[in-house]
Amino acid sequence: MLAACGEVEDTRPGQPVKQRQMAFKEMVKAFEPMGVMLRDGRYEADKFTVQAERLVAKRDAPWSHFGPDTNYPPTKATPDVWKQPEQFEKDKQAFIATTDTLLTAAKSKNKAQVEEAYEAVHQACKTCHKQFKER
Ligand code: HEC
Repeated sequence: MLAACGEVEDTRPGQPVKQRQMAFKEMVKAFEPMGVMLRDGRYEADKFTVQAERLVAKRDAPWSHFGPDTNYPPTKATPDVWKQPEQFEKDKQAFIATTDTLLTAAKSKNKAQVEEAYEAVHQACKTCHKQFKER
């Protein structure tokens, strides 16, 4: 495992911070290729649907690792995750709903619908990060 310079290792049992960060990275691996396809004008319906299915399969993984008392380095989460759990939950549910819509759109193979649904997922990531993730 390569850690970036100055990065703090998660030394707690079970490594909840590391677990959730890795889970987000897995989500990105599913999400990012869809954006690339759309931006490069290389939309292929079947490939896109595979990625949308991957994203749906990965979307539930991070959340169980946000237990109480898991706000410690190297986390990039803001204290609001624990101070405003209802809003965090709301943003999470909104995100999950957008990924459902994305998969439906992918299966429709309608490019305009796909682009709109992809953008909605992207916004849902950004909305949550704005309040709950440090930049
Ligand atoms: C409901 C809130 C929420 C949603 C939705 C969300 N994230 Fe995050 N994300 C977080 C939080 C909080 C962290 C910080 C986790 C930590 O460091 O403990 C994070 C961290 C990350 C990281 C950094 C991982 C690392 O190793 O530091 C990436 C990349 C990321 N998210 C991508 C995404 C993408 C892409 C989406 C949408 C497809 C998304 N997230 C949706 C809250 C969210």
